[in-house]
Amino acid sequence: MQTSSRGTWNSKLGFVLAAAGSAVGLGNIWAFPNQVASNGGAAFLLVYLLCCFVVGYPLMVAELSIGRKTCKNPVGAFRALGGGAFTIIGFWGLTCGVMILSFYNVVAGWTLGFVFEEIAHFAGSEGAVALLSDLGNGPKNALFSIVFMAATVGIVVGGVSGGIERATKTMMPMLVGIMLLMIGYVVFQPGAGEGLSIYLYPDFAKIDANLVFSAMGQAFFSLSLGMGALITYGSYLDRSQNIPQAAAFVTLSDIAIAFLAGFLIMPAMFVAQNQGIAIMDGSGNLLSSTGLVFNVLPTLFHTLGGLVGFLLGLLFFVLLSIAALTSTISLLEVPASYLIDEHGMGRKKAAVTLGAAVGLLSVAISFDTNWVGRLASIFNNIGLPLGGLMICLFLGYYWKTHNALEEMEDGYPEVKGGPFGRIWPVFMKVVCPILIGIVLVTSAWPVISSMLGN
Ligand code: TRP
Repeated sequence: MQTSSRGTWNSKLGFVLAAAGSAVGLGNIWAFPNQVASNGGAAFLLVYLLCCFVVGYPLMVAELSIGRKTCKNPVGAFRALGGGAFTIIGFWGLTCGVMILSFYNVVAGWTLGFVFEEIAHFAGSEGAVALLSDLGNGPKNALFSIVFMAATVGIVVGGVSGGIERATKTMMPMLVGIMLLMIGYVVFQPGAGEGLSIYLYPDFAKIDANLVFSAMGQAFFSLSLGMGALITYGSYLDRSQNIPQAAAFVTLSDIAIAFLAGFLIMPAMFVAQNQGIAIMDGSGNLLSSTGLVFNVLPTLFHTLGGLVGFLLGLLFFVLLSIAALTSTISLLEVPASYLIDEHGMGRKKAAVTLGAAVGLLSVAISFDTNWVGRLASIFNNIGLPLGGLMICLFLGYYWKTHNALEEMEDGYPEVKGGPFGRIWPVFMKVVCPILIGIVLVTSAWPVISSMLGN
């Protein structure tokens, strides 16, 4: 089999877990609740879900098919299927991946810092608590992001089945478990109801171009789409795997975890307000910032207090760090697989070189964390959908959907005759490109011009 020289996943379940591990991360638990809060609650949730199902899921199937067909990194995959000019789609993906990893790593470093913050709080060492919860402390941010990058490099060096699979298997169910426990606690606290009603009752008047733009970007970011991460993961995929089914599992588990995170954070914001934390601006809009989750959650654990509060808080930030790690692994694996496949570099050298380069960027961002938000709005909200648009157009009009469906027949022999085989091509060729195109044209431009203007 072609894939065996590059390694495959150890088991069918292993692949699905690794892909879900890539999807589930800070996007779900850090970015999503913040987006919900800044875009008016349930209206955002609704548009986000639509983006995931209507654009995200079909595109995930597309990326996995391209990957498994070619057994290559994104650049090599587009070269194999389309020829030299199309490698630009792969290179664009690599660029987005590297830039996303550079700020993601800083946020992952914050998360890791809160593991120690919880310990310091329990030990009653308020000075350490203040230091560790200061998201603007450059040297501290730099230190934790370097540690995090080193961990990512270590696992990527271990190779796909050695490292990535093992890291995901038990952690995700534990993370879900702990979130459910915290939700069970928080919904009975004073103020929780208000947060929940904002989260669950949509105010349709809030839906505007900017909200749709953010929701689309968030869907791409959370599902790890648009930059070829799932082309790369698909390239290690066993031929007996049912691609549409695997993609459905990954999409649904990612959405479920984001939904739970919102269910925890929205009420927790109002509970935190009762503790004296400001969550609204002067005009009554929910305050949102890159630090939202890191302000609200520790407050919650501290309110719970005692040994239980400490253990839950500690475990939560440990698990969230691991969830972030299974995502940074996928972000690093994409450019690493490019250097390995296309430039004949050894896995170790590729991972270490990239890790050092991206680590330097993270250190720079550590000292001016405004760049976290800036880079997220450029690369998540514009870069990934643009990549996704190119992938849809390439697949729909150059490689052709019937070839992709043929690839899917391995693992899903009846695909062509069934409803999926009839509907998916329409999404690839028409629905997804039009929707992504509209969002990019109507919303990205104002954002770009306002950035240039500043
Ligand atoms: N999806 C991850 C999260 O939600 C982040 C991530 C990992 C990602 N790999 C990616 C985003 C590839 C875009 C592309 O935390």
